[in-house]
Amino acid sequence: MTIRTKITGTGMYLPDRVVTNKDLEELMDTSDEWIRQRSGIVERRYITEGQQPVDLAEAAARQALEAAELEPDQIDCIVLATLSSQADFPGTSFFLQARLGGNMPCFDLQAQCSGFLYGLTVARSLVASGQYQRVLVVGCEVHSTGLDFSTHGRDVTVLFGDGSGAVVVEANTDEDDRSDILEMRLHAEGKYAKKLWLEAPTSCVPGRINQEMMDRRAHFPSMQGKFVFKHAVTRMPQVLRETLDAASVKLEDISLFFFHQANLRINEYVANNLGIPAEKLRNNIQRYGNCSAASIPILLAEAEREGALKRGDLVSLTGFGSGFSWGSAALRW
Ligand code: UT7
Repeated sequence: MTIRTKITGTGMYLPDRVVTNKDLEELMDTSDEWIRQRSGIVERRYITEGQQPVDLAEAAARQALEAAELEPDQIDCIVLATLSSQADFPGTSFFLQARLGGNMPCFDLQAQCSGFLYGLTVARSLVASGQYQRVLVVGCEVHSTGLDFSTHGRDVTVLFGDGSGAVVVEANTDEDDRSDILEMRLHAEGKYAKKLWLEAPTSCVPGRINQEMMDRRAHFPSMQGKFVFKHAVTRMPQVLRETLDAASVKLEDISLFFFHQANLRINEYVANNLGIPAEKLRNNIQRYGNCSAASIPILLAEAEREGALKRGDLVSLTGFGSGFSWGSAALRW
């Protein structure tokens, strides 16, 4: 028998420093109007001087633990999804474990903007198999220190922000409690790895980076935006439906939809395509930009704090990102 699983706590942390589209106008040839129209973003958060990824992850994790009414030493394993790690190695999860204390296993998982969904799938499997009782899943990104603030990088740079979100996944053994992560589906298409990627530093060259790479700006992320956009609006509805079908849940029975926050236009397009009413779709990209692996757990934590997520509600999480990678989850909250 597989054990049912439940998200028992959510947490989030966004740095205090607000960076508006107008602020970016000072640094590159862009405009508030372009950014709002093409992406829906109005502002994003960047870390303040001295802040590190682990600071964000710790704040989000502690909130999730408090909400779950758990002490850090009650956690059996930490899964941290990130594409912007504290160090090249070890992963940010190890720095987080040092802050929380204890000797539980921990590891980083890199699946870019689908990282949280991949991490949640791993956590669910670990708990459902009986291996662990409680797994902390964290999405944590500090993009701002790795972006190209010249006009050359404007297509990518204006989209991203820093932040962290976390959830606690626990075994649900209460017969009367129907909460469960019902189904999860993940996909990837590595042949498109270079359509949205950050090439350097890389183990492919001695010293991990060289002047030639710096000259062609290989140490900044690059993206074929329109190509990514087209795949996102195709893959997201596909995997969302696939997951709901697997869970035998009807789309109209879902109370809230949580989509990765890459572009407001992508999310509205997908919602329209599926006939999802605007009031059922949660977005915060306007305030935080794209926080990659942290976007979905931040959305969940915000919804909980606003009282929008009720126990027993059916909810759907869906994301798409670099890799390409994409996935969806159907949950009874
Ligand atoms: O989270 C991971 C997944 N990521 C995504 O899903 C992102 C998917 N892609 C997108 O969201 C959109 O493609 C973007 C928001 C990145 C771009 O929107 P777009 O409507 O596809 O614009 P575009 O790339 O075709 O660029 C249109 C014009 C170009 O100028 P020309 O060639 O028409 O003269 C760009 O150079 O806009 C220009 N442009 C900008 N202008 C002002 C590109 N970036 C900027 C900018 N400010 N920041």
